[in-house]
Amino acid sequence: MDQNELKKLVAKAALADVRPGEILGVGTGSTVDFFIDALAQSGLSVPACVSSSVRSTRRLEQLGFRVLEMNEVDGIGVYVDGADEIDAGFNMIKGGGGALTREKIVASVARKFVCIADASKKVPVLGKFPLPVEVIPMALRAVAARLREFGGNPVERDFTTDNGNRILDVHGLSIEEPAALEAAINQIPGVVSVGLFAARGADVLLLGTAEGVKRFERR
Ligand code: 5RP
Repeated sequence: MDQNELKKLVAKAALADVRPGEILGVGTGSTVDFFIDALAQSGLSVPACVSSSVRSTRRLEQLGFRVLEMNEVDGIGVYVDGADEIDAGFNMIKGGGGALTREKIVASVARKFVCIADASKKVPVLGKFPLPVEVIPMALRAVAARLREFGGNPVERDFTTDNGNRILDVHGLSIEEPAALEAAINQIPGVVSVGLFAARGADVLLLGTAEGVKRFERR
């Protein structure tokens, strides 16, 4: 099975976590695109979704889902999203699609975070995938200098986020303490958010493997 088939497999498996009648949080990325398509085909009754990107909002609306703003809801039941890397403690690197800040915001109000990922995303230590950091444009140079102090090599991505900011992808990190690094990077003036999801990691991991979908729950 190729990577896309594994993504489709986990996307479909995540339907079992959707609670009919509850507001659903929807992440961003190619795996989530497959999830949105599977959701539309499932006929499950979802009163409304809260989306983490313009891209997902567009796809959801095209398929007939009602999409609400975060400020219109008190909370979210399940939040389904992909990851660029996930470790054994359910800490993640996210933001390969550039939606890390909105993903973090939506995840923060969700009761349950279901991560859907193909097997290549499961790693012993985070950091091989360059760590995305969303930055206010005027602070790019200053933030890049601070990020070098952590041993990484920040490279500006040719991309503007849905929030009008820029992204530095930090190469060359080996992230042994994700929660501590997340907190430290968040303290740098000019950083909007870092694509380390440790303070609020996943609760459930659905991993698409050649042997089928494996489910792991955070203890
Ligand atoms: C977007 C993300 C995605 O979840 C992550 O990049 C995984 O993407 P894909 O499902 O396309 O592999 O964090 O900001």
